Amino acid sequence: MTLTRFASQTLLVGALALPFSASVDAQQHPGKPNPKRGAELAVKLCSNCHTTQADNAARVKADVPTFREIAALDDQTDVRITGKIMMPRHPMPSINLTRSELADVVAYIQSLKAPN
Ligand code: HEC
Repeated sequence: MTLTRFASQTLLVGALALPFSASVDAQQHPGKPNPKRGAELAVKLCSNCHTTQADNAARVKADVPTFREIAALDDQTDVRITGKIMMPRHPMPSINLTRSELADVVAYIQSLKAPN
């Protein structure tokens, strides 16, 4: 392999890794949902509307369910949460996530299910 090719590949990998500081975790467990990475995505993409941390009291918007409330809904499942994110009901916007990001965010939401 030439040096130029090596350099450009390294740059490309670097650029892809940049947006997610937790991508190292994801690489260590490929295919396994990573709630830590999900938490970071949630803060970036969802926290304008949803309270994404476990503390329901720190509510962002009165009419938007907190992630902990979503996790605590009766008979809540990963599949149901995934469906609500992929086919959101207005005014929840449609958000572009890869399959693995989606799984990470769902794993994070489910991790908040805990007795109050
Ligand atoms: C612009 C504001 C906004 C953003 C950003 C947003 N949501 Fe929502 N979301 C809402 C609103 C409002 C609802 C309630 C919709 C309804 O009435 O059913 C909702 C509902 C949901 C539900 C369904 C809850 C239920 O009733 O079962 C899930 C799951 C959800 N959001 C996840 C997310 C995730 C994950 C993100 C980030 C990737 C996100 N949302 C970003 C506004 C937002």
